[in-house]
Amino acid sequence: MEKTLVLLKPGCLQRRIAGEIIHRFERKGLKIIALKMIQMDRLTAETHYAEHREKAFYGPLVEYITSGPIIALLLEGEEAISIVRRLAGPTSVDDACPGTIRGDYAARTRLNIVHASDSPASAERECALFFRPGEVYVWEDGNQIWF
Ligand SMILES: Nc1ncnc2c1ncn2[C@@H]1O[C@H](COP(=O)(O)OP(=O)(O)O)[C@@H](O)[C@H]1O
Ligand SMILES: [Mg+2]
Repeated sequence: MEKTLVLLKPGCLQRRIAGEIIHRFERKGLKIIALKMIQMDRLTAETHYAEHREKAFYGPLVEYITSGPIIALLLEGEEAISIVRRLAGPTSVDDACPGTIRGDYAARTRLNIVHASDSPASAERECALFFRPGEVYVWEDGNQIWF
């Protein structure tokens, strides 16, 4: 089973669509194993987005992600990392088709509303940046296999 980190960026809360976005992950069959609402401080944002430090959009990206509360969640499932990336859609909203989260809810790439880990290595690093082991729940589905 893979674990992956999703961040619902500040626009999700401002636009009152956090529940809708979480619903999309749940109905696909992904399991929520950790969830919290936080406001990211600058250091956490800079650590999280360190790979983009040299890019032109880095400053505005850090500004945006720290501008208000976000919801962080860990999702678990087989192939969870690639499934969540597909549900989110491509980074650029010009490429994100309707039916994907970014395609349906975002009109600007800088405000593309969700973050999703892009590889097993980043998922591991990002999960540890946002959640302590005691905040992650191991829970069983029981005998039913729903997905
Ligand atoms: N060309 C761009 N212009 C403005 N913002 C961008 C651009 N590329 C990426 N971003 C922002 O930076 C975030 C991180 O970029 P990246 O890691 O490449 O994408 P992803 O979020 O799909 O993993 C994106 O989600 C988006 O908010
Ligand atoms: Mg990324």
